[in-house]
Amino acid sequence: MDSAIDLGRPTSGDVVDLILEDHDRFERLLRQLRSTASDRDAVRQAFAALHVAHAEAEEKHVYPRLKKASSVTKDEAEHGEHEHAEGNEALLAVLECAGTDTQKFDDAVEELARVVNHHLTEEELTILNPAREDTGEQLRAELGEAFATERNRQIDDDCGRIENVRRLVNKAKRHGLIDEGE
Ligand SMILES: [Fe+2]
Ligand SMILES: [Fe+2]
Repeated sequence: MDSAIDLGRPTSGDVVDLILEDHDRFERLLRQLRSTASDRDAVRQAFAALHVAHAEAEEKHVYPRLKKASSVTKDEAEHGEHEHAEGNEALLAVLECAGTDTQKFDDAVEELARVVNHHLTEEELTILNPAREDTGEQLRAELGEAFATERNRQIDDDCGRIENVRRLVNKAKRHGLIDEGE
């Protein structure tokens, strides 16, 4: 990753806390992305890395275990994956903008913020609350370590590069998670 923006590098902790810390980072980065006082190109790259790494780690290690160990349903987990795909699609539109000082960029950022804020809210209500209420500390610590390890590995692999985001969007379309449309 070339970005100088610090994405943190947790290696252990309660999975709910680790996920919420990333959600705070998403909100901060979205605010910076809206501001012309920021290095918006650096911010979009940092946001891309964090979004892909976080969502992949949730889908690989957190959602599957919570379906078994808590009242999180298969539908809620699948809906989360659908919203990750929508987030990647909105992210791709931001990354594809040639410049960061255009109306097109502002519109793409507005859509990204809408999609991601919706997902953070829904995930905290339907996935993190049951995770906190239904599971024990030990499982949440195990999931925290698995989540953090995958998240950091993804960031080290430069997971936010545009080719990788495009690959994930195309894969989601093939799997029917988002419309083939645009
Ligand atoms: Fe999340
Ligand atoms: Fe998520």
